Amino acid sequence: MDSSKSGESQKLYIETYGCQMNVADSEVVVSVMEDKGYVVTEDINEADIILVNTCSIRENAEQRIWGRLDVFKQIKKKKPELTIGVIGCMAERLKEKLIEEKKIVDLVVGPDAYRSLPELLKTVETGQKAINVILSKEETYADISPVRLDKNGVSAFISIMRGCNNMCSYCIVPYVRGAERSRDPQSILKEAEDLFQKGYKEITLLGQNVDSYSWKSEDNDLPTGQASGRQGKIIKFAQLLEMVAKISSALRIRFSTSHPKDMSDDVLFTMAMYSNICNHIHLPAQSGSTNVLEKMKRGYTREWYMDRIMAIKKILPDCSISTDIMTGFSGETEEDHQDTLNLMTWVNYDYSFMFKYSERPKTYAARHLKNDITEEIKSRRLTEIIELQGKLSEISKKIDLGKVFEVLVEGVSKKSTDHLFGRNSQNKVVVFPKQNYKTGDYVFVEITECTSATLIGEPIK
Ligand code: 5AD
Ligand code: SF4
Repeated sequence: MDSSKSGESQKLYIETYGCQMNVADSEVVVSVMEDKGYVVTEDINEADIILVNTCSIRENAEQRIWGRLDVFKQIKKKKPELTIGVIGCMAERLKEKLIEEKKIVDLVVGPDAYRSLPELLKTVETGQKAINVILSKEETYADISPVRLDKNGVSAFISIMRGCNNMCSYCIVPYVRGAERSRDPQSILKEAEDLFQKGYKEITLLGQNVDSYSWKSEDNDLPTGQASGRQGKIIKFAQLLEMVAKISSALRIRFSTSHPKDMSDDVLFTMAMYSNICNHIHLPAQSGSTNVLEKMKRGYTREWYMDRIMAIKKILPDCSISTDIMTGFSGETEEDHQDTLNLMTWVNYDYSFMFKYSERPKTYAARHLKNDITEEIKSRRLTEIIELQGKLSEISKKIDLGKVFEVLVEGVSKKSTDHLFGRNSQNKVVVFPKQNYKTGDYVFVEITECTSATLIGEPIK
């Protein structure tokens, strides 16, 4: 290989699929690469290295990646020296099979092996394929300062833990992201403080199950006056949330994802105490039927889930609630489906992510349960769920007419350059006339109109 091309001057193009955690991981990857002199490009045609950070959650997520690899193959035809790497969850799941299946893939790296990327690239430079899919019990990338790839400079993700110990019967995540481990709170605080110094106004704390965040600490590790500093040496999510919220009242805090079996009232009370912790909880239900939840090994019943919703509504009356719903899981009856629909109506979700069950190899469900709901029935049930959520989302917007919200501006509206858009605490998108406001401002907006997806209003002084 041309020596001017190795190391320093190489251009890296990175594409990210899947969840917010993957977005955060790509920022870690870029940090690791920039440290070694690689330069990020947004133009795929000028790339020396293409990395695709992948998702395995449903079969169609993987299908998309195979499609992208075909596109990369065309680019590589014209540029044979191009390195193509598959990283993330699909890399972890398929390992060397990826290289066997697609000869154009040079590099396969799992979610816990990103530190080894520069070294693996050296191997690729010698003409060999390189692979590292070792999962770790400790890796949290705590000491790595992610390079922010977002454009707005207002909101950023901070990963507070990795992996997952839940073993929901349908889910691939524990297999591709390994065991759960929490990150040192001091490194989280430092990252949040740095972001705030740089002008960021909103951070989202990320984990597969933030409610099981747990860090064993020496007392003197903690800043004085923190809630758990006195007697306990264990920092739970509620305390972490409080520590981050105390950085500044001008820094908004969000988090995702909560787990119904673990979400404690402590977290809700902490949210109530700090106005800069946003009033929104994403609480995936998956199903409204206890029978199905049991087969899913979710660790809660319909009644338990409803109790958690009642706790949110009581402690945080202004809190919006969103969810994930999966339809067509093994053995799901029409009655189970109705239970899901009526749970949705009962909760009155502000928005939902809705999916058809997709069987994933190796999971408990793939090994022990039948994927026995036909595609036709899955589609029909999903349509009913989406239609119901459409109505609920409309209700969720209409009740906001006439209200005033503090909106953090994220940028210029896609539909009109005379308008800005941002979010209120409840995570609803608000659009309003630009006037003299700019990205990063907090603006009080009175809601005058709405569509099913957006609130529209006028700034008030
Ligand atoms: N099939 C369909 N949807 C799934 N999810 C997780 N695993 C699967 C699967 N095998 C959904 C769940 C989860 C969200 C991130 O993706 O609803 O909460
Ligand atoms: Fe995220 Fe799960 Fe997809 Fe991995 S498999 S990218 S953890 S959604």
